[in-house]
Amino acid sequence: MANPDFTVRATSRIYIASATELLPSLVGDRRVVVVTDATIDRLYADLLKPYEKILIGRGETIKTLQTAEQIVRQLVAMGADRNTFLLAVGGGIVTDIAGFVASIYMRGIRFGFISTTLLGQVDASVGGKNGVNLDGYKNMIGCFTQPEFVICDPTMLLTLPEREFRAGLAEIVKASIIGDEAMFCRLEQATVEELRRDRKLLAAAVRSAVRVKAEIVERDEREAGDRRLLNLGHTLAHAIEKSSKAMIHGEAVAVGTAVVADVAVKIGLLTSVQRDRIRALLVRFGLTIAPPVAMSRLLKVMTKDKKSAGNDLHLILPREIGRCEVMTVHKQDLNSWFE
Ligand SMILES: NC(=O)c1ccc[n+]([C@@H]2O[C@H](COP(=O)([O-])OP(=O)(O)OC[C@H]3O[C@@H](n4cnc5c(N)ncnc54)[C@H](O)[C@@H]3O)[C@@H](O)[C@H]2O)c1
Ligand SMILES: [Zn+2]
Repeated sequence: MANPDFTVRATSRIYIASATELLPSLVGDRRVVVVTDATIDRLYADLLKPYEKILIGRGETIKTLQTAEQIVRQLVAMGADRNTFLLAVGGGIVTDIAGFVASIYMRGIRFGFISTTLLGQVDASVGGKNGVNLDGYKNMIGCFTQPEFVICDPTMLLTLPEREFRAGLAEIVKASIIGDEAMFCRLEQATVEELRRDRKLLAAAVRSAVRVKAEIVERDEREAGDRRLLNLGHTLAHAIEKSSKAMIHGEAVAVGTAVVADVAVKIGLLTSVQRDRIRALLVRFGLTIAPPVAMSRLLKVMTKDKKSAGNDLHLILPREIGRCEVMTVHKQDLNSWFE
């Protein structure tokens, strides 16, 4: 079997390589059921032809228990048993739901991912968080279970719509601010067009972001400490996604990252020169850095967030490009941090 680029928690192998070449050897002669959406199924029909399939819808609104139940019912109808291998092929929506279903179907069956969006490759498919939303609250139901393998095939990103590609770049910028200054500098020299065209450069950027995430998950799978660093820009991003349909996840992360860079300057953690470089890089990649709704409304959403029930929340702030810090903030003080 090919050597993985990264291994997470000993059991999960991550490959940045061709799906067509790798997949047959990774699944072997097991019975495979693919979970995917109609777009991927159409674009990658040849790759998926040998396997049985369950198609689900698209978009954040289908990331629900109902969809998970539908998949379970189809697995039952197909006679899938504990030896069946579930292969999720798609972006973060598909891998989050399918990973969750695989973790609960008959108390857990083996599963793997082919991650087909940039955001999925650098973030959603890595780290073992699976789950669905409830009543508009993201990922309220889920589990930590590692896929047996993740294939991130950069050539599959050629078919990705431009908007989705840029949204994925926001997570790469985020990862470089958390832990790869050299990649941040490299990105400052690149354009979106170059990243789309130059497969080597894109693979290097994906590899960098996966390395940052994999190393952190290795230390802290359950998010008791360091894993919180990966939420840079996400506290605000989740509030944006909750209050407006104007932005997709990665776009909201770009706003959240730009805003916390400002906060970090205000409290003397980050220099304004570094803040300006962060903002300029996001803008260079065509990402908006101004919130699409009033800050006062976002602050209300953050304060009332059911997911952080206590009086405190964890805010991730950059200290410098390549190093961030987790700060505990009283919810009643949020206004003064963000005003
Ligand atoms: N589990 C985690 O750790 C984690 C981390 C980050 C994000 N997420 C979750 O990921 C989800 C977002 O994922 P996403 O950004 O990948 O969006 P997505 O899964 O909705 O995919 C975006 C769209 O692109 C299409 N698409 C996918 N691959 C394509 C390709 N190669 N060519 C053409 N079209 C393609 C899909 O059909 C879909 O319509 C959110 O629900 C978020 O909460 C999870
Ligand atoms: Zn994210």
